[in-house]
Amino acid sequence: MALIRVLGIETSCDETAAAVVDSERRILANRVVSQDAEHRPFGGVVPEIAARAHLEALDDVVVAALADAGLALRDIDAIAATAGPGLIGGVIVGATFAKGLALAADKPFLGINHLEGHALTVRLTDGVAFPYLLLLVSGGHCQLLAVEGLGRYERLGGTIDDAAGEAFDKVAKLLGLGFPGGPAVERAALQGNPQRFALPRPMLGRAGCDFSFSGLKTAVRLLVEAEPDAAADIAASFQAAVGDVLADRTAAALALTTQRWGAGKPLVVAGGVAANQVLRARLQRLAEGAGVPLVIPPPRLCTDNGAMIAWAGLERFVAGERHSLDLAPRPRWPLDALTP
Ligand code: KG4
Ligand code: ZN
Repeated sequence: MALIRVLGIETSCDETAAAVVDSERRILANRVVSQDAEHRPFGGVVPEIAARAHLEALDDVVVAALADAGLALRDIDAIAATAGPGLIGGVIVGATFAKGLALAADKPFLGINHLEGHALTVRLTDGVAFPYLLLLVSGGHCQLLAVEGLGRYERLGGTIDDAAGEAFDKVAKLLGLGFPGGPAVERAALQGNPQRFALPRPMLGRAGCDFSFSGLKTAVRLLVEAEPDAAADIAASFQAAVGDVLADRTAAALALTTQRWGAGKPLVVAGGVAANQVLRARLQRLAEGAGVPLVIPPPRLCTDNGAMIAWAGLERFVAGERHSLDLAPRPRWPLDALTP
C-alpha cells in the first residue's frame, strides 16, 4: 500500500497543535504551542482567551509543522482536525481552518473526536493491536473503555463527579501551586511524604468501574485549612490517593475484560494525567500483578497534541472515510457514540 501522510490539527483546549504522521507510524512533525502564559493570571483556562489565541497561533503552527516534515500541502493525503468534544470556540477555529485548507488544496477532510485521538495514540507509538482496556484520564474526562476496534469503544465506567485531571488542577489551586495544576502537584509531591496524611479513597472496592474525586478534593481543602504549611506532604498524599483509586477501578475493569477477551490483553493509559510518573509506576505495579502488558505513550503524547489527531484521521482515512465540510463541531461528543 502507498505511504499515507495526514496533517492533524488540535485546538480543543489550551494547546494549539499541528502534526504530520504517516502510515508507517512515523511522526514527521509535532508542533505544540501552549497557552499557559495567557491563562495563568486567571488560574485556569478561559474559553474566550483560548479561542482567540488559537486563531492567532494556528497559521504559524501549521506552516511550521509542514516545514518540519519537509512537505508541502500537496504531499499530504488528508487533513484531520479535532471536531469535539472541547471548548467550542477553539474547536470551531481548528475545524474551520482545516476545512478551509482542505477545500483550497483539494484534500479530504476528517473531523476527529479528541478522545478517540487519545484512545488510539498507542497504536501510533507502539503498534498496539485491538482489543485493549483503556484508562482515559485527562482534564475533562476520566473513564475506562473496552476498545474493541476503530470506532468501537464501550464505556465500562467513568467519574460520577470530577475528572482526575480536574482534581489535580483544583488541588494545585488550593495549595497555591499555580497553573497548570497536574505537573505542579507532581513537582511539589517529589519533596513530600505520601504517607503523612490518610486521605479518603472514594469508591475503593465498590462493584463496577466508576470513579469519584469530589470527596477527596473536599478532604484536601479541609486539610489545607488545618495544615497550611504542609503543601508538599499534602500533594504527595493526594497523589497517592488518586493512584490507589485509579488502580482499584482499573483492576475491576481488567477483571471484566479478562473475562471477555481472555488473559493478557494490554492495559493502555492515555490523556494528560498519564504523564504523571508516580501514577505510571502505580499502574505498572497493577499491570505486573495482573499479568498484562502496560502501554502508556510518552508524556508529550499523553497531553494534547496534533499527532494523536493526525493518527486517528489516518486510521479513518485508511478505512475509507471522508467527512463533509458541513460536519458541525460538537462541544459534547461521548466516545461510545462513535461509529466504527
Ligand atoms: O489530555 P489533556 O492535555 O487535556 C484534556 O483533554 O483535558 O489533559 C490535561 C489534564 C490537566 O488537568 C492537567 O493538570 C493534567 O492533565 N496533567 C497532569 C500532569 N500533566 C498534565 N496531571 C497529573 N500529573 C501530571 N504530570
Ligand atoms: Zn486531551
